[in-house]
Amino acid sequence: MESRIHVLILAAGLGTRMRSRKAKVLHRAGGMPLIEHVVRTALELAPPEQVTVVVGHQAEEVRLAVARYGVGFVVQAEQRGTGHAVMAAREALSGAGGLVLVLYGDCPLLRAETLRQLVSLHTRTGAAATLITTVLDDPTGYGRILTDPDGNVAAIVEEKAATAEQRAIREINSGIYCFQAEPLWRHLGEIGADNPAGEFYLTDIIAIFRRHGYSVRAFRLTDSHQVLGINNRIELAAADRILREAKLREVMLAGVTVERPETVTIDQPVRIGIDTLIEPFAQILGETSIGENCRIGAGAIVRDSRLGDGVEIGPYTIVNQSVLEDGARAGPFARLRLDNHIEAGAAVGNFVEMKKARLGRRSKALHLAYLGDAVIEEQVNIGAGTITCNYDGTAKHPTTIRRGVFVGSNATLVAPVELGEGSYVGAGSVITDSVPPDALALGRARQVIKEGWARRRRERAQAAGAELTAPTADSAAAPAPGPETPRSG
Ligand code: UD1
Ligand code: MG
Repeated sequence: MESRIHVLILAAGLGTRMRSRKAKVLHRAGGMPLIEHVVRTALELAPPEQVTVVVGHQAEEVRLAVARYGVGFVVQAEQRGTGHAVMAAREALSGAGGLVLVLYGDCPLLRAETLRQLVSLHTRTGAAATLITTVLDDPTGYGRILTDPDGNVAAIVEEKAATAEQRAIREINSGIYCFQAEPLWRHLGEIGADNPAGEFYLTDIIAIFRRHGYSVRAFRLTDSHQVLGINNRIELAAADRILREAKLREVMLAGVTVERPETVTIDQPVRIGIDTLIEPFAQILGETSIGENCRIGAGAIVRDSRLGDGVEIGPYTIVNQSVLEDGARAGPFARLRLDNHIEAGAAVGNFVEMKKARLGRRSKALHLAYLGDAVIEEQVNIGAGTITCNYDGTAKHPTTIRRGVFVGSNATLVAPVELGEGSYVGAGSVITDSVPPDALALGRARQVIKEGWARRRRERAQAAGAELTAPTADSAAAPAPGPETPRSG
């Protein structure tokens, strides 16, 4: 019969060896805080109301990092060791009965399948405690497993308290345990702090259980990667690399082409459809989903965005919190800064920045524009250099560009303003008043031609003996050109 499982995650420590002002479990690997990895794994075994996180150092920040999963929290106000952290949860959990699975928040590579195997071994053997152990080439930093002559776990000895002989043991404690709740709560208080660090070590519970005649089993894991505990930034980088490689393998096996995968960064939650191509040095981050048959160009950064099918993101384009519908294009060198919606078949070109802007179906803004707080309907052409002046120094104002509008190059649209359906804006215009449908708006000074002005200026300068602005060095010395000098176009 399946016992009720309660998962307890210890995440109250500072993590001194990280040498950081930030709590260790908030450091990120594979694009997620360490604690989030562990919480997500726990939730594969138990519903949120049966998962409790012990917080302490930077409790509020740690809570915020995982609160949206609906798990519970208890506070360990003073961090006096892993045994002390479990004591802090005693009241919250002791009524629950069943099994208590203890995990450490600094162990992000652990897989839910492994935990299921642990629970099933534990239930099968009827042990009071089962812990995951593994054999490492270099066991430095971990607690070592002491076994009795029958090969059963007798005790765990922490490195700081270990003799030279014990340090030579290569079987280590992963920090992942499955306990029968009842004996755990009954004997937890027997853990003392009589060790070099003066901490209450949870690991002491093993010897205590044995002393009381309970059976303790080891689940020896061959894939020791999974139990890598992160205590310093070298281990953090190692975990990050393992998670990144695993994610890349996952997307490639699922039908995505990744060029030079060793240069590409894809966060854990990202989803990508088949036949999409990812070019070198692309970064796909956060809660991003990408459809089928897309192309993510070299060096592009896509974060928290949703891309439909057949979307093209050109090289060196930044897409943040934006939506691009099927067949939309952006870049190269475009910046979709925040909260944009590019509808199907619309295109954003180089050096175009957009913020809180909607670009309608098959509309185009292909060169050098700023479009902010704007609604642009379908089949609109935004000329090169067009700027929405959305900010007056105090407040932001909207620009509305209706269906089929043509905005000439270098137009300055002073918001709030609306360009009516089918209207035209002449190049170089400053538009301060809304434009009616089908009208042409010109907001610029009329061009003036002064015939012969430049020639007369040169002649005056020559007469005064000065060498002044000639078309070329040669013609400065040559006879003055005739009156039929062509006007420049
Ligand atoms: C611990 C184990 C060690 C094991 C290793 C596996 C103990 C005494 N030692 O050592 O046997 O080999 O993990 O990675 O358990 N924490 C609290 N409150 C505290 C102290 C720690 O919540 O007062 C949390 C930390 O935030 C961390 C976890 O417990 O997530 C483990 O603490 P850490 O200091 O990393 O223990 P290790 O020295 O790695
Ligand atoms: Mg640790």
